[in-house]
Amino acid sequence: MNILGIETSCDETAAAIWQSTANGGHILAEKIASQIDIHARFGGVVPEIASREHLTTLPPLVDSVLQDAQLDWSAIDALAVTAGPGLMGALLVGTAWARAAACVHKIPLMPVHHMEGHLLAPGLDGELPPFPFITLLVSGGHSMLVRVDAIGCYTQLGQTIDDAAGECFDKSARLLDMPYPGGPAIAQLAETGNAARFPLPRPMLNKDKLNFSFSGLKTAVMYAVRGLSDMDDQTRADMAASVEAAICDVLVGKSLRACRREHIKHLVIAGGVAANGYLRRLLDEKANAAHISVHMPRPEHCTDNAAMIAFAAAQRLQRGITPPEAWDARPRWPLAELA
Ligand code: KG4
Ligand code: ZN
Repeated sequence: MNILGIETSCDETAAAIWQSTANGGHILAEKIASQIDIHARFGGVVPEIASREHLTTLPPLVDSVLQDAQLDWSAIDALAVTAGPGLMGALLVGTAWARAAACVHKIPLMPVHHMEGHLLAPGLDGELPPFPFITLLVSGGHSMLVRVDAIGCYTQLGQTIDDAAGECFDKSARLLDMPYPGGPAIAQLAETGNAARFPLPRPMLNKDKLNFSFSGLKTAVMYAVRGLSDMDDQTRADMAASVEAAICDVLVGKSLRACRREHIKHLVIAGGVAANGYLRRLLDEKANAAHISVHMPRPEHCTDNAAMIAFAAAQRLQRGITPPEAWDARPRWPLAELA
């Protein structure tokens, strides 16, 4: 079965074809057209510009993915599209286009929850861990710990009470005059930095709850930056390393706490922040010591992509779950409402 996935929830236009087979499946072709250069000069995503870019980019991108896979529409068995959460205009472009294509080519269309796509993404590059597993979902808009008991059966164990982890990377980067998106910029700068130079807080790390809070950390970065008389390259690198270490300490600490509390030995990390090299290394090391196995998508499948959307739809279709008869794009869509 060949499933064509479409993702337009934020600032990446993406299309991919997932071929599911009896014993798994693989990606036949995938493409991502990033709008980062367009939004970078505004310091963040401008929703109206994002929608317009999706509109012009999506149709040729789908053509080129079909070409790469050497398939035509008659070989596509189903379409999958991100229906939320995300920017309303951006979602409407993708879902309207997908509805029209599904109608013209007379194939089913599965609406997919963007965060479900992220949390199942390790299945793109290997096998999903056995159920139940814990997922740390960390993106630009979300930071949450989820217990996964089956496809579609998600229990949120904790979430951020203010900023998301990616948002903390992005806002801290701005304070250091680095371009949007801040995560990759901070990660690169941190490579030559000393993480011990600025003792930043690890908010809620020692609290028993599984919630996160990152706005206080961002404020601490702001005061630390203001208190500096000179911001030379080494100081910027040290600050970047200190921010990265503070965020990752909290994410790793809380993830392991969730595994311990739920008595679960498999941990998945997903979402854009999961592409962070330091986070991946730290988690590997700490989880190994606690005899917990960590499953992570390749870095390029942590950030927004369409293969994860096609894959999430494939999991449902393979289990005989048919698309709902009526659905709308949902800019806000709690994961727990999926079941
Ligand atoms: O999942 P994603 O691509 O889009 C959303 O659904 O939000 O996540 C984007 C977020 C941004 O905040 C970005 O700064 C962060 O992921 N990010 C990173 C890295 N790559 C992307 N954060 C830290 N280190 C990275 N290497
Ligand atoms: Zn995302």
